[in-house]
Amino acid sequence: MSMRDPLYNDESTASIGGPETNVPKHVAIIMDGNGRWAKAHGMPRFAGHKEGVATVVKVVKTAVDYGVDALTLYTFSTENWKRPKTEVEFILKLPKEFLGVHLPELMANNVRIEAIGDMSKLPVATRRAIQYAIDRTRHNDGLQLNFALNYGSRQEMLSAMEAVFADLNTARLSLEELDEEQFSKYLYTADTTEPDLLIRTGGEKRLSNFLLWQLAYTEFWFSDILWPDFTGQDFIDALEAYGQRKRRYGGV
Ligand code: IPE
Ligand code: IPE
Ligand code: MG
Repeated sequence: MSMRDPLYNDESTASIGGPETNVPKHVAIIMDGNGRWAKAHGMPRFAGHKEGVATVVKVVKTAVDYGVDALTLYTFSTENWKRPKTEVEFILKLPKEFLGVHLPELMANNVRIEAIGDMSKLPVATRRAIQYAIDRTRHNDGLQLNFALNYGSRQEMLSAMEAVFADLNTARLSLEELDEEQFSKYLYTADTTEPDLLIRTGGEKRLSNFLLWQLAYTEFWFSDILWPDFTGQDFIDALEAYGQRKRRYGGV
C-alpha cells in the first residue's frame, strides 16, 4: 500500500502549517491580565494594554503559520464600560492604532478582518478604522481574524431573539423552522464555525459573558500567564494540548 493511498492522507488529520497534527479550525481567546502585568511592572494599566497589542501581533502570526482558519479575540466586553473613562477611551483607540500599523502586513498574509459586537457605541474613528479594514480584507481567504468589540453574549442573544420575533410568521421564518442552526444565523457569529478551542490567559477560570452559545462544546485551555507575557510558543502549547483532546459531543 503506497503512502499516497487516501487512507494515509486523511485531510482532516493532515498537518497544515506547522508540526501539529490536529489543528483547531477556530480558536477564541479571552486576552486577560493586562492590568496586572502593568501593576507588576510598576506601570499604569494602559501600559499593559499597549503591551497586549504586541502579543496580538505574535499570536496572529503564529495562527497564520499554523493554518488556523479563524481567530476570535475578546477585545472589549459590554461590561468593560464599568472601567474608568480614561481606560475605556485608551482601549477603544487601540484597534485603530493596531490596524494603522499592521493592516499592510495582514493583507500580505491574506488575513480577513471581521468584528463582532455592538459597533454603534464605539468611537467613530475606531468604527471607521475597523470598517475600512473589513472592506480592504473582504476578499482575503486566509485567517479570519474576528475582533469582539463591545461584545457581550447575553446582549447578542437578546438581539438575536428580538430579530427572531420580528421575522416569525413572515416569509423569513416560521416557528417550525426555528432550530439551533436557524437561531445561530441570528448571532454575530453567523458566518463563522463554533470555536474548537478557547484560551483564557491571566489565571481566571470564567467566561465573562463571552460566546456562551457558541462555546457549548468547545475545548477550554486556561493559562496563568498574563496576556502581555503570552508568547507564540505558549499559543502553540495550547494548540498542541488541543491536539491531544478527545471530543465526544455526548457520544461514546
Ligand atoms: C484584559 O486585561 C483586557 C481587557 C479586559 C480590555 P485586563 O485589563 O482585564 O487586565 P487585568 O485582568 O485587570 O489584569
Ligand atoms: C474579559 O476580561 C474581557 C476581555 C478580555 C475583553 P475582564 O477582565 O473584563 O473579565 P472579568 O472582569 O475578570 O470577569
Ligand atoms: Mg481582567
